[in-house]
Amino acid sequence: MEIAVATPAASVMDLEKRYLFQNYARYPLVLQRGKGCYVYDTSGKRYLDLIAGIGVNALGHAHPRLMKVIREQAGRMLHSSNLYYHEYQGPLAERIAKATGLDRVFFCNSGTEAMEGALKIIRAHGRKISPQKYETVALVDSFHGRTFGALSITGQEKYRSDFEPMLPGARFVQRNDIGALEQVVTDNTAGIVLEIVQGEGGINPLTDEYIRAARDLADRHNALLVFDEIQCGVGRPGAYFSYQLLDPVVMPDITTAAKPLACGIPLGFVAATERAAGAIGKGQHGTTFGGGPLACRIALEFFDILDELLPNIIHVGGYFRMQLMELAKKFSFIREVRGYGLMIGVEIDFPGKQIVLDAMEQGLLINCTHENVLRALPPYILGEQDVDRAVTVLKRVFKKAKPPE
Ligand SMILES: Cc1ncc(COP(=O)(O)O)c(C=O)c1O
Repeated sequence: MEIAVATPAASVMDLEKRYLFQNYARYPLVLQRGKGCYVYDTSGKRYLDLIAGIGVNALGHAHPRLMKVIREQAGRMLHSSNLYYHEYQGPLAERIAKATGLDRVFFCNSGTEAMEGALKIIRAHGRKISPQKYETVALVDSFHGRTFGALSITGQEKYRSDFEPMLPGARFVQRNDIGALEQVVTDNTAGIVLEIVQGEGGINPLTDEYIRAARDLADRHNALLVFDEIQCGVGRPGAYFSYQLLDPVVMPDITTAAKPLACGIPLGFVAATERAAGAIGKGQHGTTFGGGPLACRIALEFFDILDELLPNIIHVGGYFRMQLMELAKKFSFIREVRGYGLMIGVEIDFPGKQIVLDAMEQGLLINCTHENVLRALPPYILGEQDVDRAVTVLKRVFKKAKPPE
């Protein structure tokens, strides 16, 4: 059988239209390679990549230190399964335990899998106390992933409605409404799940008071407090994790992470206190691929580099938001600029899709979430010059934008 080799953009797109599930609304762009904060399409056109694989390519593309460890590890061992030990899971777990302030770590391959792990701990914790204690409280506009458990606690109807009925026991409340949270959390609550900054929901930060109230309620009702740091954590906020931005820090019982951990090789984790981790015994949870030697070795290298980059994330992120606030003074359709570190949202008065397409045309990749929030999740190596370039393009695109009458 002949296998088609499709490099020109049109034939790549045609093949996908013919053979792939049509579940993605892709932008008409075929990417081929990247270097630093830039990517190139099949025609050689260059784009400043501020979406970075939806927050995955934290060190940009083709980072020399990552290339070195990937090459070395490819020649040694890619996969070993969780039947045996390998050299990198232990040291990485230690690193994550120190960075999160938690005790134990489970490795998986993606964000949604990390949330499944967290949900199983929540259920097992509740069940040890009472058969009625299985409710999980989550927020309207949250996003926790696409598998059934994670989807059940995702507070956006559009992702869930075609797949009902969901897992029982999910209770949704509005973010930052402490009264509503107090009403819904009871002795039947086994877990409260929060994104400190909602990502897919539109870059919405929770207030410190709300997070503290969630901690108090979880303690009062013997429920586990889970922070989903899959989008808003692992260096992106300018701290290892976004709960560490609070002063004093509010500790979760469990935190989940994924996206940038291995900078493009699938890796996620669930980190938990001794008490929470103790809810899962031998044989009760596992994965074939999770925490393989390649992914763990890359993540160890990434953590070393991240230590050096945290000041840059704070500095360049602040600079970026300041420049965007200047734009907001010129364009009245910009409602708000939000975010921390290099997680940035610009809410506008109308759907942002055309802006994203126009920016792409001009060599800038951003995306739009929650219909009208332009979003940047750039690599942590972003510099002021890159921000200047992005802002120049955005200014041009905004000038042309036609807000609906
Ligand atoms: C906060 C949050 N949780 C969970 C997920 C799911 O992660 P994944 O797509 O790796 O399964 C995402 C993905 O965007 C996310 O932003």
